[in-house]
Amino acid sequence: MKKLTILFVAFLILATSMQMKADEGMWLPMYVKRLNFVDMQKKGLQLTAEEIYSVNHSSLKDAIVGLANSPRPRGYFCTAEIVSDQGLMFTNHHCGYNAIQKHSSLEYDYLTDGFWAMSREEELPNEGMTASILVYMEDLTDSIIPMLSDTMSEAGRSAAVRKITSRIKERASEDGKYNVIVKSFFEGNEYYMFVYQVYKDVRLVGAPPSSIGKFGGDTDNWMWPRHTGDFSIFRIYTAPDGSPAEYAKENIPLKPKHFLPVSIDGVKENDFALIWGFPGSTERYLTASGVQYKEDVYYPPIIETFGAKLETWKKHMDADQEVKIKYASKHAGVANSWKYLIGQSKGIKDLNVIGQKKVFDAELQKWIDADPSRQEKYGTVLADIDQAWEEKKDGIEPLIYASITGMGGSDIIAFAQKYSGLKELLVLQKEEKDKKKKAKKAGQVRETADKMLTSLAGDYKNYDLATDRDVFAVMTEMYYKKLPADLHPEELQKMMKKFKGDFSAYAEYVFANSLMADSVRAKAFLQDPSLKTLEKDPAFRLAEAYIQKIMPLRSEFMSKGQGLDKAERLYTQAIREMQPDKAFYPDANSTMRFTYGQVLPYDPRDAVEYDYVTHLYGVMEKEDPDNDEFIVDPKLKELYETKDYGPYAAKDGSMVVCFLTNNDITGGNSGSPVINGKGELIGLAFDGNWEAMSSDIGFIPDLQRTIVVDVRYVLFIIDKFAGAGHLVDELSISQAAPKPVHTRIKTEIQVLVE
Ligand code: ARG
Repeated sequence: MKKLTILFVAFLILATSMQMKADEGMWLPMYVKRLNFVDMQKKGLQLTAEEIYSVNHSSLKDAIVGLANSPRPRGYFCTAEIVSDQGLMFTNHHCGYNAIQKHSSLEYDYLTDGFWAMSREEELPNEGMTASILVYMEDLTDSIIPMLSDTMSEAGRSAAVRKITSRIKERASEDGKYNVIVKSFFEGNEYYMFVYQVYKDVRLVGAPPSSIGKFGGDTDNWMWPRHTGDFSIFRIYTAPDGSPAEYAKENIPLKPKHFLPVSIDGVKENDFALIWGFPGSTERYLTASGVQYKEDVYYPPIIETFGAKLETWKKHMDADQEVKIKYASKHAGVANSWKYLIGQSKGIKDLNVIGQKKVFDAELQKWIDADPSRQEKYGTVLADIDQAWEEKKDGIEPLIYASITGMGGSDIIAFAQKYSGLKELLVLQKEEKDKKKKAKKAGQVRETADKMLTSLAGDYKNYDLATDRDVFAVMTEMYYKKLPADLHPEELQKMMKKFKGDFSAYAEYVFANSLMADSVRAKAFLQDPSLKTLEKDPAFRLAEAYIQKIMPLRSEFMSKGQGLDKAERLYTQAIREMQPDKAFYPDANSTMRFTYGQVLPYDPRDAVEYDYVTHLYGVMEKEDPDNDEFIVDPKLKELYETKDYGPYAAKDGSMVVCFLTNNDITGGNSGSPVINGKGELIGLAFDGNWEAMSSDIGFIPDLQRTIVVDVRYVLFIIDKFAGAGHLVDELSISQAAPKPVHTRIKTEIQVLVE
């Protein structure tokens, strides 16, 4: 109890000092001059505002890349940065993980062994992966907000926004040359347009083995002290004329407008640190009731279902290397979210986030009540928000269980859902009496089946029958036990009777009899599809039954808490009105932002101080040959033993691996460049720390840190470990002239003597 009270008071003090702290905030680049520049200069920035963000001249923003798996992305799974005049990019290993996994097999296990292209010809294309570079952004608020009114319905509002922006977007796209995205900010109080150039030929250039890139695994994930070389290397290619193009052999490396020079001078406490990237989402303007909702009903079922799935996957992955490769990327993604939710939920409790929000909400209500016109506009806002969350509370738990364990439970159920369209066509074909029309329907069936045949290999590439059978059993059982009887599909009840409640036996039956259980059976079926076979298929029957149960559940949930969007918009507006002198930053929404701060240590708890750097000897301390999260590669060990660090060593001769800053980042920022006052790359941001996991809901100045892999470790691995020095040669590296050690000592001795 005591600890909690102390923390609560500490948190309040921190929260009030929050406004003055410059490290909080994910700022919009176009306002750098107005809002942040002077403060950044004070902290150590030496660049001009134009060198950071300019529409007409090349600037730092031109080196920042959003990574996505779509040709016209609205969001980015990670950030990368251009580091050479040949379109070379650095990002995290966990950002390249999916691409590395796709190229991996038992024969070429790049996840385990790493991958290094020793020439341009060896660089590997990645179908579907894109790299977006921001051309410019524009404030559309004044063209949109005056056209909207508070009496409009939310749907009417969205339609109006769409209508107003469609012409603006069309003009900005310059006949499809650019990807134009308009997004709302501050819960619909402001609107901005982002114009991107999207490059579609992105090739894998290098990746360390997972024993370096994922060192510490899920155990160390989200935690400090950290010793992970979390980086991978890609390159953007363009058509020979420099324009974006799909992969083609004759494509050439991108000639970027700007690339980041690299500094190997290292970091000291309090050094300025600037981070650019694409933070995905935060909810810093959530009310106490919103946080309570998450804590009570939203997180628990996700944590429980993800945990069960991870455990089942892991059993099979540990037993079979091929399964391990196949499931590596899926597992990493779910494990990352799972631990995040656990940490966030714990952070909300430990730091009394709800109590803190309640204090703030009460203050806001007081401010509203003090003025009749405020009362009229905002009087019921907090009550409206509370009520909306209350309404949503009933529906969310069953929906989460049903979505994760039912429709999203196993791969076979996901495959089965893809057959719905084909089934409809088969029914139409069967019912058609007219001969000619029937033949036409048959043609459509053939066409659809052919399309499905072409994607079959891809679907089953990362699938293992025995693993999925187990997952199916575990997830189906959870569905059955967690959801009330009225949400049990008839098919499931029937099967439970048949197998006397034995979910493993049911799974055996499904996987022995379903045409979707392996690609050979699926292929044979699609070559000659039959309605009867499909209708009998046990996986297909369950998938259809799930859809019928879950769809109404989903629409019912969607109809709840309708007033939330509007109330949150007014709430955000009121907060800003109450504090007219405070500079506000919008919640993260997968648009380009920067955050600035310093290299800093922290104290996680009573009597414990954390240093802000980790070293290669720390990797050796963590080594455990029996635990594959902590294996150390023999080559790395050898380099450690011979201290062969070249120019990448710190001044004291050690090898620095990671460091900490107090920048404000979140998921999506992974891979973001950490830049010093001179605009040089000093590291790659890759994680947040355990003590501040609730940071997406509230920034925690004294506890929140960004975990960065030092660029010197990155270059050391590329050069000394992988022998890919040609990649280092491509970079523009700056190093303050090293002082010869012996002369310095001599002068100091001389000084003493004199
Ligand atoms: N927690 C990091 C993020 O969400 C990902 C770290 C990946 N590393 C790992 N061991 N799973 O960006």
